[in-house]
Amino acid sequence: MAAGLGAWAVVVLATTLATVAYGQNCKPVDSQALKYFQLEIVFGGEEFKTWQDGTNCCTWDGVTCNGNGNVESLNIVAKDVPAARPQGDPYLVGTALGDLVGLKNLTMLNVAYNGQIPPAWGGLANLEVLNLDGCNVVGSIPEELCRLGNLHTLILKGNFISGSAPECLSSLSLSSLDLSGNQLSGSVPSIP
Ligand SMILES: *[C@@H]1O[C@H](CO)[C@@H](O)[C@H](O)[C@H]1NC(C)=O
Repeated sequence: MAAGLGAWAVVVLATTLATVAYGQNCKPVDSQALKYFQLEIVFGGEEFKTWQDGTNCCTWDGVTCNGNGNVESLNIVAKDVPAARPQGDPYLVGTALGDLVGLKNLTMLNVAYNGQIPPAWGGLANLEVLNLDGCNVVGSIPEELCRLGNLHTLILKGNFISGSAPECLSSLSLSSLDLSGNQLSGSVPSIP
């Protein structure tokens, strides 16, 4: 009896500690969005080794959740600079990340993103930071990014972005904007 109670106490304690250590459980829709995105990343090796099916996405490398179990920050830093410019027509990558309703900070450095920023990201109403420095981003900047009313930092430097930057970006309250090192034509919108 005493031993049984002791074992029960250990289970309760372990469960409590696990909850404290891992925080919230990832929302299934968030978990699925991250998985879809991972499949689109061409050279996703080391950075994604903790992104295992059936595990809590809030514990994955580069992922932080808020108290509701929604992904709040996605931060992936690749070890190697992606080499060649992606070939072929630009295609959208990471459309699924537009489902991360709690996302505030999307920062990827040197990740072989190899695609075009999806218009769906314009729906990330809580996004404050978008930094895709050196990620082989191609295509143009979608006008939909101008809907990101909470965005204060937009860094897209060191990519292969072409076309002209949407003028409406100047209507955002950006404190930091860096579009340098791309193939943009025309002028870059000014920020206050
Ligand atoms: C966004 O995430 C990056 C990477 O973790 C971090 O360096 C940066 O400070 C964050 N920005 C904000 C405003 O939280």
